[in-house]
Amino acid sequence: MRNYSEFLAEVLISEEELQTRIKEMGQQISEDYKDSKNLLLICILRGGVMFLTDLMRQIHIPHAIEFMAVSSYGLGARETTGQIRISHDLNTDIHDRDVILVEDIIDSGHTLSSVLDMLSTRKPKSLEVCTLLDKAERREVSVPVKYVGFTIPNKFVFGYGLDLDDYYRHLPFIGVVDENKYQAESDE
Ligand code: PRP
Repeated sequence: MRNYSEFLAEVLISEEELQTRIKEMGQQISEDYKDSKNLLLICILRGGVMFLTDLMRQIHIPHAIEFMAVSSYGLGARETTGQIRISHDLNTDIHDRDVILVEDIIDSGHTLSSVLDMLSTRKPKSLEVCTLLDKAERREVSVPVKYVGFTIPNKFVFGYGLDLDDYYRHLPFIGVVDENKYQAESDE
């Protein structure tokens, strides 16, 4: 596997900036849900995993976690459509619970919109969204988002849960890909 430094155009959000913001978000959630009896964080696999595990350590009230996996049909690997398929559903009944969906990034909004519609039918007490990154200018469908870590420009980002052809999710920062360099090396 190539070293990411060969195609890293810039570090968009450093590890320190991420952790500082995530601490703030955790404190805000802890305050907002201090009276909740049954807070549940639901992570949408796979990109949200890094964010979830750091965020939950900054939430200082009792809460549970769950995971679900969805895949989208159509377009390409880097774009989604409105149609999703649940490939791993929750093992928990969310009826009457306070639910926060945890995402790494919102792009078109299609994934989240579909997941929200589907989870709403299960009648949670409350249902909110917490995303680390928001590519707001790419939005095609409006989604209500309560917590946003960073609003970012329309750049091809990777790291901290976000993959580049399935790799580099482990990086502790959000980087921007130099697509010319990445493509050139991929073609070698
Ligand atoms: C990413 C991200 C969101 C979705 C956002 O997942 O984690 O779930 O795309 O895109 P949208 O707003 O245009 O619907 P991806 O499909 O890349 O899967 P992954 O998390 O497993 O990498």
